[in-house]
Amino acid sequence: MDFSEIQAMMIRVVSHFTAAVENTGIYPDDHPLVISIRQDTHKLLAEIFEWKKEITIMLIGDSLMANKRPLIMSGAGKNAFIQILRKHAIERVSFSRGLPLSELTEFIKAVSTESLGAMRSPRYIRWGKLEIKDYADQEIDDLDSPEEDINTIYDLEALTTEQKIDNIYRNTLSGESINVSDTNEIIRHFLESIRREANPLRLLAETKSNDEYTFTHTANVGILTLFFAEHLGFQGSDLRNIGVAALLHDVGKVTTPDDILSKPGSLNLDERALMETHTTKGAFRLMEQAGIPNIAVLGAMEHHMKYDGSGYPRIKGGWEQNIVSQMITITDVYDAMRTIRPYRPIPVPMEKVIHLFKQGSGSDFNPYLVERFLDLMDM
Ligand SMILES: [Fe+2]
Ligand SMILES: [Fe+2]
Repeated sequence: MDFSEIQAMMIRVVSHFTAAVENTGIYPDDHPLVISIRQDTHKLLAEIFEWKKEITIMLIGDSLMANKRPLIMSGAGKNAFIQILRKHAIERVSFSRGLPLSELTEFIKAVSTESLGAMRSPRYIRWGKLEIKDYADQEIDDLDSPEEDINTIYDLEALTTEQKIDNIYRNTLSGESINVSDTNEIIRHFLESIRREANPLRLLAETKSNDEYTFTHTANVGILTLFFAEHLGFQGSDLRNIGVAALLHDVGKVTTPDDILSKPGSLNLDERALMETHTTKGAFRLMEQAGIPNIAVLGAMEHHMKYDGSGYPRIKGGWEQNIVSQMITITDVYDAMRTIRPYRPIPVPMEKVIHLFKQGSGSDFNPYLVERFLDLMDM
C-alpha cells in the first residue's frame, strides 16, 4: 500500500468512524447496522496496521491530518468528524496496531455520549490536545518535558521538518538559495529527537514509494550521521555542520531524472554516468550558497568516494575523503540497505549488512569508523 492508498483508506476510516458514532446515538446497541459499521471500521484500521503501526489523526484549525499528511476530504463527512472531535476537545487521536474491536467499540460509545470518562483503560487509543512549544530560547540540553508532550511535539515538528526538507530540495532544483535557518532548525529538531529517544534507530522512516525516497533517505542519513557523530564525540557547531552536510549530501540529485533515480534494475553506462554527476553538481550548488558550511560541499562531493581512493568522482593526485564524508559514506550505505524500496520489499538482512561493512572495512570504508558504527548499532 503506498502513501496515497493509505490516505484513501484513512478517509474511509474517518467516514466509517463518524457513521459508527452517529448510529450509536440513534439505534440500540445490538442493532445489526451498528454492529456491522463498527466491525467495518475495525477492519479498515486493521488493514492499515499491516503497513503502519500507528495512525494519528490531528485537527489543526479546520484541517485534518493523518500521519502528518493532509487528509483531503469533502464537506459533510469531514465536518461531522470534526464536530465529534471538538465536542470532546480532541485535537489528536492515535490508534495503534493490535487495537481490539472491544476497545474501538468502547471508544465509539464513549465519544457518542457526553463524556469520554466512560472509557476505562484505553491501551491502543490515545487522544489529547496538541501543544506547540517554542524551544527557540532553550538550549537543547535543557529540554525536559513530560513524555505526553513530547509525542505531541514530535508530530507537529516532524510535519514542518518534512516540509522544510522538501523545500530545500525543491528550491535547489529551481536555483533558489537554501534557507540556512530552516537547515539549522531541521538539525536542531533531529538532535532533540535523538536525545529524547532511547533508541534513535526508531526515528528512521521507511519508504513505501519512490516519491518519498529522497526525502526519507535524506532525513534518515541526517539522523543517523548526527547520532554517529555524537557517539564519536563531535559537539557544538562541528556537530551541527556535520548534520547539515548529511542532510544536503544528495542535493545534486534534484536534477537527476526520476526514471534513473527509481530504476529497479542496474543502470546502463550513460545512466550511470549521469547518476554519478549528482556528487559534483551538488558540491557546485552548495559552493554557490551563502551560509553553507564547507564541510557540506565536501560531503556532497566525496560521499561516493571510497576510503582507498576508488569510487567516484575520480580526482587525480591522491585525493582522500575527509572524515565527515567517510561517516556519510557509511550512514548512506546503511540506509540504502535497510530501507524498503518498491523493488525490494524487505530490507537487506542485518547479518548481511554487518558482513558487507566488515568486508568493505579498509577498502570502501574507514576501518575505525566501521568499528565504531557497528558498535553504535549494536551490531
Ligand atoms: Fe549520493
Ligand atoms: Fe545518499
